Amino acid sequence: MQQLNNKQILLGVTGGIAAYKAAELIRRLQDFGAEVRVVMTKGAQEFITPLTLQALSGNPVHYDLLDTEAEAAMGHIELARWADLVVVAPASADFMARLASGQADDLLTTLCLATDAGIAIAPAMNQAMWRDSSTQANLQTLIDRQVAIFGPGDGSQACGDIGPGRMLEAATLAEMTADQFQSRELDGISVVITAGPTREAIDPVRYISNHSSGKMGFALAQAAIEAGASVTLIAGPVSLATPDRVQRIDVESAEQMHRATLDSLAKCDIFIGAAAVADYRPATSVKQKIKKSVDTMSIELVRNPDIISAVASHKQRPFTVGFAAETQDVVSYAKGKLVKKNLDLIIANDVSNAEIGFNSDNNAVTVIWNKGEKALPTASKQQLSRCLLKEISQSYKENQAT
Ligand code: C5P
Repeated sequence: MQQLNNKQILLGVTGGIAAYKAAELIRRLQDFGAEVRVVMTKGAQEFITPLTLQALSGNPVHYDLLDTEAEAAMGHIELARWADLVVVAPASADFMARLASGQADDLLTTLCLATDAGIAIAPAMNQAMWRDSSTQANLQTLIDRQVAIFGPGDGSQACGDIGPGRMLEAATLAEMTADQFQSRELDGISVVITAGPTREAIDPVRYISNHSSGKMGFALAQAAIEAGASVTLIAGPVSLATPDRVQRIDVESAEQMHRATLDSLAKCDIFIGAAAVADYRPATSVKQKIKKSVDTMSIELVRNPDIISAVASHKQRPFTVGFAAETQDVVSYAKGKLVKKNLDLIIANDVSNAEIGFNSDNNAVTVIWNKGEKALPTASKQQLSRCLLKEISQSYKENQAT
């Protein structure tokens, strides 16, 4: 099960007897494919040691806002940006009160204020504390601010009481965490994505290719699945795991990618060309390995089909999205390609910057369509893909409405 594949979960642990269940929760989140970093309040450390949670999460545990060493390693703002979702389990009555009143008096509350990611809490406390009108008022404030509330469950409590306030079990919390990433924006929509490089054979052992890692296309496939789409991923040779529920078709050459793409158009509402297709291939692919003899040799190259242009001029034309990897005048070249290739939307990125180019884990892009453009700042390819999918789905729906 990989519903949380590549997701970065910041797990906040506050002071309460249910803190021991946080250890199990880390494991369940990891089973779902998530990377977990833990932030503990002072109270939490009275119930479970940072060392336990550090060993389970495989990452240093954070607990001090004013520790210069910890700040130098991964500062609180960096940590807040790292998170795709903040899950606080258990969330004590005191933590809920501090979160509701917008305090930033320890690392966890500060992170909750500083993050743009969603926040989910799993309340755990004595049943009378849970029923108390202050807690209920805080709960309402948090619900109004779109904080997701996991539980609490009902039953026997550590203090001997019976009633509401038990933290939900770790497996249930992990499933609820995964559900937070399902946007359903593309429910019922079929998306076809090309990704990675192509290989153009010179002979049986040699080929022409490029540095594309396929990471962007694969991240888009994952984001499209999360948004409820059915996804076909036509992948050139890459060493990446297939996201859950994605139908993957492996190809090598541009011609194979071209054929697989056209075959997929019968069931395609949105096409995203994220592959770095080789523009040329050797005119002839020799059947036997070429032996070295002369000092120089030349290979005649012929143009490959432009796959995305073929899609955009097809009678079953889907909403067509392309990429423009440029090293200069990024936006203006991309606008030219939008028109020339007859695309609905183009995503321009500057590959001259090694931080965000081919093979890197991050990217920053400008989304351009005929009526406007929008810059999306540097983020992980996973985070960026979710933002891109939002833009694509919005533009697709506007397009359908006209
Ligand atoms: O022309 P250029 O390679 O810069 O265009 C990039 C866009 O066109 C990308 O979306 C890429 O996937 C697509 N493309 C294609 N077939 C080609 C070349 C590029 O689909 N032969």
